[in-house]
Amino acid sequence: MSATHQLRCTDCGARIAADAVRSDFRCEDCKGLFEVLYPWSEGWSAEKTAAPAVEVRLPNPGGLRHLWQERKTSTMAVDQSGVWRFREMLPFLRDVERAVTLREGNTPLYEMPRAAERAGVDWLLAKHQGMNPTGSFKDTGMTAALSVAVERGFEWVACASTGNTSAAMSAYAARAGLRSIVFIPEGKIAWGKLSQSMDYGALTIQLKTDFDGCLKLLTKLVQRFPIYLLNSVNPYRLEGQKTPAMEILEQMEWQVPEHVVVPGGNLGNSSALGKGFLEMKHLGLISRVPRIHVIQAQGANPLYRWFGDDNREMQPVAAETRATAIRIGNPASWKKAARVVEETGGWCEQVTEQEIALAKAEIGAEGVGCEPASAVTLAGLKKLVAQGRVAREERVVLLLTGHTLKDPQYTIDYHCGELLTAAEMAGETECEREQHAALRKPPMVLEADESAVLKALEERMATADAEGMRTVPRSSL
Ligand code: F0G
Repeated sequence: MSATHQLRCTDCGARIAADAVRSDFRCEDCKGLFEVLYPWSEGWSAEKTAAPAVEVRLPNPGGLRHLWQERKTSTMAVDQSGVWRFREMLPFLRDVERAVTLREGNTPLYEMPRAAERAGVDWLLAKHQGMNPTGSFKDTGMTAALSVAVERGFEWVACASTGNTSAAMSAYAARAGLRSIVFIPEGKIAWGKLSQSMDYGALTIQLKTDFDGCLKLLTKLVQRFPIYLLNSVNPYRLEGQKTPAMEILEQMEWQVPEHVVVPGGNLGNSSALGKGFLEMKHLGLISRVPRIHVIQAQGANPLYRWFGDDNREMQPVAAETRATAIRIGNPASWKKAARVVEETGGWCEQVTEQEIALAKAEIGAEGVGCEPASAVTLAGLKKLVAQGRVAREERVVLLLTGHTLKDPQYTIDYHCGELLTAAEMAGETECEREQHAALRKPPMVLEADESAVLKALEERMATADAEGMRTVPRSSL
């Protein structure tokens, strides 16, 4: 049989055959993480794989673009998937037609005129990965890695999660008829996400620890039981998560944006997007890559600190943020993400809880909405513009990673003025106070009486008139 791919340790460079990897996906020699290499990848090593490489007949870039578009009109499940539509970029399954798919991907790229004004750029786009089947970007990675679990004959799969990975994993496992186990930090996950893993039939275990504690424990368990690990240390997850890079370019008619802004938690997603863009450059589909910027919450900012540390030492932090999806203090993929930021000329920023809350409300007011962790992108962009790292005329794409309905409690608390503490609000400037006041839309409770309702409406309409017209998208994006 010929080898479709091999694995390379991103720390020591060791290359191994795909089936030689340990169950915790760590390198035997240095405990580093692996990445998937194909016969067409930079760094493929013919001697390291016993079987000969499959013969690579990649169509030319023009041919690939055409093929990917054409598949959109096919009725085959794998063609309708916004991951497997790009299968030439992730050819690791023996039989792609048996991939486990919920028709993930193919998510919208929205124009964000009001958020652009707020951030100080002319044109801002948001790639909404929250529009995936289970409401987050994790679906694109899960279809990839769970299909490998099926191919390898596993019956049990597991992950540690702040909520979205577990939702995605349990859905895809259910589709494939596998059993799934979810480890989540007790009390620190949004209800929408917790309800999903129960609905999709996972064995849900809430551990009295944080995400980092959950992952540590699970890493030990998979070495003792035949359970397939589906956290983003699994390199196949990142192969699926590369595909939004292809979609963004398709949606921008193959013009490369200058900047892509991504939230950073366990740091798999920024690594995956970077790999996607860099591979497309390597294959001649694009001539340059966007700068990839990673934004972390100030209370969960180990990568931000690492960039600012002269000794360049990774110091895990005790993470604390209301953006529970990225409440991670010891990110597994930090080295991969740091490399992507450096290789693409990007930057790593941190944002406060107040900045996240404001940005989330601004994205909501645009009719788009997202979960708190996704809003760090807009909050971070404002900083990048203020620092001169992003120029007004440059094209920016924000990666919105999760749907607004994932964490409705956060949104309700914000609008009812119950999210931020008095101490947090005390630090707000006059301008910020005004911005919050204009954005907050708490529900009104009125008597069911016509004149009372009319009076309230008149008042509201007068305020709206005073605010003036609102910017609307220029195109159909
Ligand atoms: N945004 C959302 C909505 C997330 O759920 C996550 C991660 C991230 C951003 C950060 O992505 O970890 O690749 O840097 N959620 C994981 C989970 C950890 O378990 O659902 P990352």
